[in-house]
Formats: sequence, C-alpha cells, structure tokens
Amino acid sequence: MAAKKTQSLTLPFKTRVQVALLGLVIDGVRRNNGTINRGVMKLFDRRVPAKPISSNSVSSHDVVFDPSNNLWFRLFVPHKADIVASLPIIVFFHGGGFSLLSAASSVYDAVCRRFARELKVVVCSVEYRLSPEQKFPSQYDDGFSVLKFLDKPHNRRDIPHWPGNADVSTVFLAGDSAGANLAHHLSVSYAKSSSSFSLLKLAGLINIQPFLGGKERVNSEVELEGMPIVSLERNDWMWKAFLPEGKDLDHWAVNVCGPNALDIRGLELPPVLLFVGGFDPMKDRQKKYYEWLRRNDKDVKLVEYSDAIHAFYIFPQLPHANLLMAEIKDFINKHKF
Ligand SMILES: *[C@@H]1O[C@H](CO)[C@@H](O)[C@H](O)[C@H]1NC(C)=O
Repeated sequence: MAAKKTQSLTLPFKTRVQVALLGLVIDGVRRNNGTINRGVMKLFDRRVPAKPISSNSVSSHDVVFDPSNNLWFRLFVPHKADIVASLPIIVFFHGGGFSLLSAASSVYDAVCRRFARELKVVVCSVEYRLSPEQKFPSQYDDGFSVLKFLDKPHNRRDIPHWPGNADVSTVFLAGDSAGANLAHHLSVSYAKSSSSFSLLKLAGLINIQPFLGGKERVNSEVELEGMPIVSLERNDWMWKAFLPEGKDLDHWAVNVCGPNALDIRGLELPPVLLFVGGFDPMKDRQKKYYEWLRRNDKDVKLVEYSDAIHAFYIFPQLPHANLLMAEIKDFINKHKF
C-alpha cells in the first residue's frame, strides 16, 4: 500500500530500540491457537513491588478489592499528602490490549508514581483480569467492582495508608489504550447506575489513545500500517481474545460509536480529556469517538500531538509525555469539585 504520509516518523534511538523490542514481545507471546504464553511474557514484563517507604516522593501499597478473583489495586500516595485539604483520586487502568501487562509492570508503576507526584493526587492503579483466560465483560466488571469498593466507607477505613483527605467525591477515571476503552465504558456504567453509589462521584475521564476497532477499516489504520506497537493484525488478535465466541468487531465494546453503539444521549457522562497521536493507526477512530461524544452533547476536549506514536507517554524521554502531564493537571484543576 503506497503511503500518503506527509510527515515521517522520527524517534530517538533509545525509543526506536524499545518499540522494536516491544513489538517482538507482543508477537512472540501470542500463540496461533489464541492463547498467550504467560511464561515467556513474564521474562519480558518486568514487574516491581509496591514501595511502602516513600520513594521519589510517593509511597505505594497493594490493596485487595476482590479476594474471590485475587484482584487488587496499587495505591500511590504523594508525600506530605496531609498538607492539603483534599486530594482528588485517579482510578487508572493500564493498556496492553486487555491481554498483557499489569498494574505492577515497571512502566505503569512509573507512570502512576509520576501522576501522584506531579498532580498531587491519590492513584489507584487497577489489576483487572486479562483475556483470553477471562473474556469480556470481566475487565469492565472489575472496573465497576473497584468503584463499588471505594464507595463504601468501611472498605476505605480498612485500607492501611489510605489518606483521610482522599476525596471519593472527586474521582477521575483514567487509562491508556485498552485501559482507556475500559475507563470509557466504566463512565457509561457509572452514569447508568450513579444512584446506587452513596458518595463516589466521577469528576472526569482522562482518555489516552483509546483502543477501538470496527469491521470497516478507517483510513489511518491502512495508511499508518507499520507504525510502532499497534497493527491491524495485532489488534484483530487482541479483539478476538477479548470478545465472546462468535462476536465481531462491530460489537459495542469495540466499535464504540459504530452501528451497535450504546445510546448515551440521556446519560450524564463526566467531562472527557481525549489524547490522540498523529502516528497512531487508531487516530481516525479516536476522532470519530470525539465527534460522537460531541454530537451527544458531552463535554470533551481533544488534544492531538501530530508526531506522537501509540503509547508515547510511557516513554518519558519523549517530550509529549511532559505536555500530557501539564494538560492533565489543568483538566483536574478545572474539574475537581
Ligand atoms: C495452545 O497451545 C499451547 C502450546 O502449544 C498449549 O499448551 C495450549 O494447551 C493450547 N491451548 C488451547 C486452548 O488450545
């Protein structure tokens, strides 16, 4: 396919090596029979423990929220949390196509630590179940369980190190890639059942390069084939692993604003901050998602970095990672209650 790109991608050498390795890992751990070689994945997915002693101005602790499924979130608390009256909470969902990575993966541990330190927020980074072992809607259910868990005062009281000034009436959902897809759907589920929550309120949705698909290919998916990290072949594999048997890419979970989209007209969704990268093959879908939210009268801000790749912000050496932090900081300050 002849590329019509007007701009070509330039990345620092270190990033080029990292994304090339990541691509080899994503392809190497996927088996033809639709399973993931978790043993091999373990060798490449470096995991780090929580650090209860404040490290780099943030302490972290793992908190079990669903013992029956052995699920937990990693709580990040900024240093001197008690000097402010209240701390907003970010409930964060990592990326990885719903099938890879963890809240303990070193890249996501570092990202969440940075959120806590620079944004002065409490972060709960959620360990949700992965496909194909657990398919849709397990991941969405796990997100909902976290919100239900945090809503209950006795649960919060029992969490060691939970800061007393962490404010459950100011919760920002956040995620990247598959985690952003999850966070979006969670904001919809919350809106449908907000009356069943006693204290917890959503103040915003920080939606970083959501993982979206659909049967009909969009231009950017074709034109940007060969860009780092995501490709049609990889994405199709991930969706197949995630979706129930017999469902196709126009399922509402995947093609969020496609032919089977959920009706969000009457729903009170929180304000959305949406990040898009110019070298992300999913960018045209993400912009359709933006337009769909607008058509449905939702408050949404689109931030596009024309020379950013998918998952750019997990590479702290890329300048956009700093811009993203500044953007999120403004968003939180504007929308916290
Ligand atoms: C998939 O292949 C692997 C390795 O050959 C095997 O261990 C596993 O049992 C297979 N799983 C299924 C569901 O076929």
